[in-house]
Amino acid sequence: MKLKLNIWRQEDANAKGGFETYDLDGIHGDMSFLEMLDILNNELVEKNVEPVEFDHDCREGICGMCSLQINGEPHGPDKGITTCQLHMRRFKDGDTITIEPFRAKAFPVIRDLVVDRSSFDRIQHAGGYISVNTSGNTQDANSIPVEKENADLAFNAATCIGCGACVAACKNASAMLFTSAKVSQYALLPQGEIEATERVLNMVHQMDNEGFGNCTNTGACELECPKGISLENIARMNREYLSASFKG
Ligand code: SF4
Ligand code: FES
Repeated sequence: MKLKLNIWRQEDANAKGGFETYDLDGIHGDMSFLEMLDILNNELVEKNVEPVEFDHDCREGICGMCSLQINGEPHGPDKGITTCQLHMRRFKDGDTITIEPFRAKAFPVIRDLVVDRSSFDRIQHAGGYISVNTSGNTQDANSIPVEKENADLAFNAATCIGCGACVAACKNASAMLFTSAKVSQYALLPQGEIEATERVLNMVHQMDNEGFGNCTNTGACELECPKGISLENIARMNREYLSASFKG
């Protein structure tokens, strides 16, 4: 199929940036979206044009690197998948596809389609861990009873891959879905209880310091999340935060 690609090009974080249009031919439906970009880049290199920078690593929906806004939607038109899992059969011959980086103040563009998502790392560092004393008689984790329902909810929260689609989908660029998934995966388990109060306070404060917007309950984040992270995590984080604020 033949395609017209409108792609955001930006030399570095300080450059203004803008869209460039490229015509591409010979794209098959079985190709992945990132393979289509690889083909474009091969052609650009042959023409002595700088290839388009985009993030990727696993190319199988695990790492969360491939964060692209495709025709206005984070990770493109299909639900429940990442950009690397999107296939070109989803598009038609003659289509125009607009490809942008995720837009948020807390995700500054580094170059072209690559954004800096280290703000997510700093939120994680603020409390996304548990401390375990490994000396002496440490209890085996498998011997600590956890209700099946809580184990499943914690597991589901832990499937967040930190891609940032929730932020890109939100008109306020809120990171509540991401942060609440990271808070919930520990709040639901006995191993997370010891640091529960400081965890939720520190992670929410870090989220605010990074410049993410407020949640106004539009639900756009949940709709675009490739891992199906539920809004219930935000409600849980709000309850955790309220109770921690009284204690702290
Ligand atoms: S909550 Fe979903 S959309 Fe947000 S970072 Fe995690 S996996 Fe990505
Ligand atoms: S490249 Fe790893 S999730 Fe897409």
